[in-house]
Amino acid sequence: MTPVCFLPQGDRLPSIRCLAESLQVNKLTIIEAYNVLEADGVVCARQGSGYFVNSVSVPSANLKSTFAPAQNVIIPKQGGSCFFDMYTAGVHAQSQPGIINFSLGFPHPPKDIDLIARRALKQAPDSLFQYDLPQGQLTLRRQIAQMLIQQGMEISADNLIITNGSEQGLSLALQHHIQPGDWVIVESPTYFGAITFGRASLNAILEKLKAKIIGIPMTAEGMNLELLEQYLKSHRPKLIYTISTLHNPTGITTTQAHRQELLSLAEKYECPILEDNAYEGLCFETVPPPIKAFDKQDLVTYVNTFSKTLMPGLRVGYMVVTGKHYQEILEQKLLHDFHTSTISQAIVSEYLASGHLRRHLKQMRAELLQSRNLMLQALECYFPEEARWTVPNGGLFLWVQLPENIPTKTIRIEALSQNVLVACGSAFFPDKKGYPAMRLSYCLTPEEIEKGISILGKLLKKYLYKGCERISNNHQTLVHSI
Ligand SMILES: Cc1ncc(COP(=O)(O)O)c(C=O)c1O
Repeated sequence: MTPVCFLPQGDRLPSIRCLAESLQVNKLTIIEAYNVLEADGVVCARQGSGYFVNSVSVPSANLKSTFAPAQNVIIPKQGGSCFFDMYTAGVHAQSQPGIINFSLGFPHPPKDIDLIARRALKQAPDSLFQYDLPQGQLTLRRQIAQMLIQQGMEISADNLIITNGSEQGLSLALQHHIQPGDWVIVESPTYFGAITFGRASLNAILEKLKAKIIGIPMTAEGMNLELLEQYLKSHRPKLIYTISTLHNPTGITTTQAHRQELLSLAEKYECPILEDNAYEGLCFETVPPPIKAFDKQDLVTYVNTFSKTLMPGLRVGYMVVTGKHYQEILEQKLLHDFHTSTISQAIVSEYLASGHLRRHLKQMRAELLQSRNLMLQALECYFPEEARWTVPNGGLFLWVQLPENIPTKTIRIEALSQNVLVACGSAFFPDKKGYPAMRLSYCLTPEEIEKGISILGKLLKKYLYKGCERISNNHQTLVHSI
């Protein structure tokens, strides 16, 4: 066994040749290992001098979340879909020149996609163009299992199903766990693609299956667990949907203690959990293991995706399912679409094998950190002091909580007339109302952030300090056309 030793900051790592000789491995193995450490920010390479241990970066102290909403549970009487409209408006806006689009998070695609895609196709066996198994390619499942084991999950490739994005994972899990008339717990606010009652996944739940939603409010630490327990006791729900890391829309990441307490409650009341970790790869710092890592009773179904870390257009996500649920969900997957695109799977697999994903993520996180800080500065500078916001530790969005009397929908329309598109907070609440809020994506250029936030700040101050004014019909027409 190799003895463990600690290298102080600034120390030089052994040369590739020396280490390869002393460990009796190939030099390529050492190069790959050093690349991994570099991508994780642990070491840095200096041209001609070798690899050195990085200094620890200390996060800025004055970037504190001021998020503190009233704790109201929401039980909507009926559904109402705006997912389709919001999603299509956001996608259209992205291709329109001149629009500052704060509404959807569009991660920048990696620059080396041509190279990786070509390599993936070259190495691919003929079977890449044939029908495949519904659970997806074994190589990719093994690679993902390896990543998840490093996060503390005791699983293997046999617990994984590759899905068409995590949206399909959510849909399959919801359909598996929910029966007509069941209560389902969601965080309030939450990801609108999961609570939407439109054409997608939960159409089956609310409109066909007649499931009923309970929205448990988010605190700055995550779902309010006291209220959760009350409703677990009184309503005996059949599922808890939670986004434990970089929650959409608030950006909150829960602590390990919160995760374990949530799981204990689920165990006590025998209520399965659907854990959605779509943004985990974009965290600026180490996060606690997912709730699934603590699950000993097969209560947690875990979904994740490469949409945020690589490219949403590939449509590659995955779910971790343990115990008796696996086979049934797999059979459903087959009925949905046979399997996820083999070519997309091969491209993701090549990204993982080559270490390019790690390098891409390192760069992306550094860019996102800068953009987040810029947006926080812009909010400080332009937004009214009554506004409160979260300070996410990664991801693409932050959440702004606004004073009670602010007409957010009107402001959205007026902002659009000035080429600024935002996601209204109401879309993220189960009753499509909630409290006045906005979700802002910071995945934009510094110029767009500065300009867009100053326009929004002026509008907010106008309505906050001078009272509401009539909006022109022109603005109304514009918002419907986008
Ligand atoms: C929290 C969350 N889950 C799931 C998804 C679906 O992502 P995809 O289907 O592209 O993997 C999204 C997309 O924005 C999301 O924000």
